[in-house]
This record gives sequence, structure tokens and C-alpha cells, in this order.
Amino acid sequence: MNIEEDIGVDEGGEEARLVSSRACHRESSTDFDLRPKRLADYIGQEGLRTSLDIFIRAARGRGEPLDHVLFHGFPGLGKTTLSHIIANEMDAGIKVTSGPVIERQGDLAAILTSLQEGDILFIDEIHRLNHAVEEILYPAMEDFQLDLIIGQGPGARSVRMDLPRFTLVGATTRTGLLTPPLRDRFGVVLRLELYSPEELVVIVQRSALILGMKIDASGALELGRRSRGTPRIANRLLRRVRDFAEVGSHAVIDARVADAALNLLNVDAFGLDDMDRRILLTIIDTFQGGPIGLETLATVVCEEKNTLEDVYEPFLIQSGFLARTPRGRMATVKAYQHFQRPLPKQGAPDRRQPSLFTSEAGE
Ligand code: ADE
Repeated sequence: MNIEEDIGVDEGGEEARLVSSRACHRESSTDFDLRPKRLADYIGQEGLRTSLDIFIRAARGRGEPLDHVLFHGFPGLGKTTLSHIIANEMDAGIKVTSGPVIERQGDLAAILTSLQEGDILFIDEIHRLNHAVEEILYPAMEDFQLDLIIGQGPGARSVRMDLPRFTLVGATTRTGLLTPPLRDRFGVVLRLELYSPEELVVIVQRSALILGMKIDASGALELGRRSRGTPRIANRLLRRVRDFAEVGSHAVIDARVADAALNLLNVDAFGLDDMDRRILLTIIDTFQGGPIGLETLATVVCEEKNTLEDVYEPFLIQSGFLARTPRGRMATVKAYQHFQRPLPKQGAPDRRQPSLFTSEAGE
């Protein structure tokens, strides 16, 4: 496959592409416009930002490429944004690809040989690289060498090529999903946390300014509180609230307008959406509060196990609605209160969930 031809062709084919010099396929071009381009414009993740700033300045000072960087964190927290920021700060080019689309060793070889000195290679969902492809990556990361076997059978021969010095930026939802040899080859490992409502307020205000929308502090706070700690969700909701405001001829988005729009979108006061409610109410109403195994829960709510773990659970756990115990998932007292369900009676012989009301539930 010719990589260069594949860059920047039709938008619709993004998913099937090996590399792209543009935004990741999950987000529209508008999301790309909202993303900060420089570290100084990036809001939140303060510890990560400080560290990254130091590593970038040090690498630049030495005239070297930045060491390989691994970002881990839940979807929508800014891993792709940060990889583009690294490229901008290092004055480097960037090629964007993802683990599942690199199927063969030759695919990765083609990408690696297309890189220029100092380029950033961003591999999203790096934990989904297959084993054979990962093996090629080890010498590429460590020694900037490409080891390839050309041909098959007795005529096969091994070829070694020098690669330009590049920076691999990997992104994963959880470092535990990476094989240890791959994880160990990253010099910088940085974790992204969920954002506070206050940080999301600033992000919403910045995005509104870029989109030419009028939103006051109360409107931004309403969105910040109801965006599940995730900038991607905050920006998506902001656009839907804008639709609501425009159609309803509201000149300024205040808390009242934002609240009405978010209610229409079924996003509740805590930011819980339909699927969050389905998860919690299944545990409360069908499984008496739990514990319930992840597999069973996934089957009942008709969702992938990984999606439950990566997309829904982090926020539900962090905001105190769900507990992960050694015996399974449980709804917390806060969840019962939120849905105005009577708390289950403790101590009944068939209840088997005393940890709901103790510190054990937080494990
Ligand atoms: N847009 C999305 N994420 C952002 C962030 N962390 N800072 C500023 N703008 C953003």
C-alpha cells in the first residue's frame, strides 16, 4: 500500500486508512478546529502538561527528537490532541494511524520508511497492534532499525535498514492492555485524568469563543458539570446546545437554556445519559444492587464489555454511582438515592452484598 497516496484523500475513507495526517476518524473537522494547537493553550492535566513541557524543551535544547511517549487514559480526554501539540512544539511532521489498521509487518514498514528525521508517529489504540507487527516496532523504537524478512521458504533473507530518528507517540485506554516489552520501550508514560467541572468550564468557554457563540458563566458551568469529565463530550454537547439556542432564538446560552437543551438530550443533572441509567437501573432493579459480573452486565445492557469498562464505568465509578468489588459491579447508595429507589435491606441471608454500605465497595 502506498502510504503517501493514502494521506488526505476522501474523508469517508478515513476508517480504512493506514495513516492520516489529519484528525482521527472519530472526530469531525470541527473537533479538530477546537483542539488547542500549543501546550500553552491546553487546559487541565496540569501535572502532565508540566512534565511534557520540560521533556519537550530539553529535547529541543539538545536538538534531538523527543523520547517515545505513551499516553493512557479514557476515550475523549485529549490523547490525540496532545500528540498534535507535541508535533507543533517540536516543529515536526506527524503521521497518524491506529493499531487495528496496521495488519501486516509490511504495513508498518511502509509507514516507518516514509518518516522524516524528527517526525512524530502517532499510533492510537496501540494495544491493538498484532504480535507480528509489534515485533517490528521493538528495534524501530530502540535502535531506529527496520528488520524485515523478504521472501518465503529457503530463499527468504533478512534485511536491515536504518530509519530516521522519530518519536513514537502511543495512545491506549489502559496501560495494562500493552505487552510489557512494548510498554518498557516508552521513555515517557503519561496518564490523563478525567477533567474537573471547572476545567471543562474553561474548555467550553474557549470552544464557544472559537465557534462564535455567546455563553455566560452559568451556561458554561451547566455544561461543565454535565459532560462526564470529558472535553470531547463537552464540545459535542456545546454544539447541540447551540442548535437548541439558535432554533429557540436565545441570544445567549445561560444555565436555563443549557439545562433545557441538556434535558432534551436526556443528559441529567449529573451528566448521566441513557446508557448510564440503563447500567445502574439494571443493577438496582434486576440484580438487587449487585454484585453482578461484567460479562452478565454487558449482555443485559447489550453493550461490549470493553466499552462498558472504558467508556461508561470510569465516570460512574469516579462520580460515586458504581463500585467495582472483587465479586462484581454494585450500585452505590448514591445511585439508589439518585434514582429514588429504596435502599435494599441489609443482612438478609440472600442479599450477599454487605459491602455496598462499607468501604469495601470502593475496591
Ligand atoms: N479542547 C478539547 N480539549 C481541550 C483542552 N484540554 N484544552 C483546551 N481545549 C480543549
